[in-house]
Amino acid sequence: MRRRIGAWRTRREWLVVALVAAATATFIGLVWLMAPAIERARLVDRYRDPQADWPRLQTLDGRDIEPLAALPEQPDFPANNPFSEAKAALGKRLFFDPRLSASNQIACASCHDPSLGWADGRHQAVGHDRQVGPMNTPTVINAGYKKRLFWDGRAPDLETQIIASWSNPIEMAGTPTQSARQLAGVAGYAPLFEAAYDDPRVTVDRMTRAIATFMRTLNTPNTRFDRFMRGARDTFTAAEIRGLDLFRGKANCVRCHNGALLTDGDFHHLGTSVHGVGNYLGRYRETGAPEDVGAFQTPGLRNIGRTAPYMHNGFGEDIDIKSLLALYNMGWWQNAPPGEKTRDIPLAQLSPLIEPLGLSADEINDLAAFLGTLDGASLYMAQPELP
Ligand code: HEC
Ligand code: HEC
Repeated sequence: MRRRIGAWRTRREWLVVALVAAATATFIGLVWLMAPAIERARLVDRYRDPQADWPRLQTLDGRDIEPLAALPEQPDFPANNPFSEAKAALGKRLFFDPRLSASNQIACASCHDPSLGWADGRHQAVGHDRQVGPMNTPTVINAGYKKRLFWDGRAPDLETQIIASWSNPIEMAGTPTQSARQLAGVAGYAPLFEAAYDDPRVTVDRMTRAIATFMRTLNTPNTRFDRFMRGARDTFTAAEIRGLDLFRGKANCVRCHNGALLTDGDFHHLGTSVHGVGNYLGRYRETGAPEDVGAFQTPGLRNIGRTAPYMHNGFGEDIDIKSLLALYNMGWWQNAPPGEKTRDIPLAQLSPLIEPLGLSADEINDLAAFLGTLDGASLYMAQPELP
């Protein structure tokens, strides 16, 4: 008893068809209108899952990207300078002791001040005889995890870096052997060296290794970001998760700020330095490679809420994190060819990994919210009593 096609087309049936069509259209319309919100909610949920299930990292530029990760509890201590409480305690005194400087006025802590995020809050550092150097003081927090130190990466380890900072004529202008002799005359130091090295003698090498040991204890492996990465997924708000997704995706930050330390340890030029002004050579001074002119090491981003001003030269007046994000959003800039002075030094080239991002104001807010999760607990430490 097959129905003939067309036989059902009574008026009533037409009405039902029209109603069903209208309801379907309304449903599709609603879904279409709500799609972005649904998509956003789904995205946030995805980030509560294990990292393997997160959206894939952008590797369009063909580079391997180290996955983001929590910091290990502490950095590796080198075999020739293992950790001991006594050495770290001695190193702490030396870090705060201005008698290491030529003037007896400037300690490591003068520029790496615990109440200023272990940096100095200045655009550029002020050292011996109030000389202003060309560089912004980085925090020493988490420096022990870095493979290369200084903005141009010229020091392979903390031990090398310490001697360089200590004897730098515009920083402490110290003479390490002279400082060691001076401290040997301070009675209170002998027992500290005895405890650290089973021998009371003060030497440059022992001082350096103690300071390095102390610095390897200055870490913030428990920021909210770290806890999130270790699996406590409820520590992030939806906005912070959207920011994390932008950081890994549309905003491309992870191309350079990746791995546990949020840096590739590599060198890039963003247009922050100007040919002929200050230290504009950057990594080029070490390698002589044309692509390294004006390239500086990607900083790790933990605690950036506390370490303004930013960039290798403390770049710009009142440039806060939101302004930096605006500059990233516009794709930084290729500095204008400056003419004459360029004859022997190649012009700095904007990193090919930098491009305009097209982020909305809401997206910039989400990205800033994510960066806020990288702040550690209080970094404050009282000045120890000096021997
Ligand atoms: C006058 C200020 C000043 C003093 C004093 C000073 N520093 Fe620094 N420190 C800086 C500046 C500026 C830089 C960046 C220099 C560069 O990259 O060329 C720096 C870089 C560093 C770095 C490298 C951080 C990184 O992320 O690469 C460490 C670690 C450090 N200093 C520790 C010390 C120690 C230890 C002392 C004492 C022996 C000391 N500093 C004394 C200003 C200072
Ligand atoms: C091409 C590699 C690269 C990319 C991509 C990149 N950065 Fe950077 N970032 C750097 C380098 C290099 C510096 C230091 C530049 C300088 O000193 O001149 C820096 C500096 C910073 C600083 C200042 C840190 C400080 O301590 O001074 C912040 C904050 C920052 N980046 C955040 C971001 C964010 C957020 C994104 C994504 C929107 C991003 N970066 C994308 C390489 C990159």
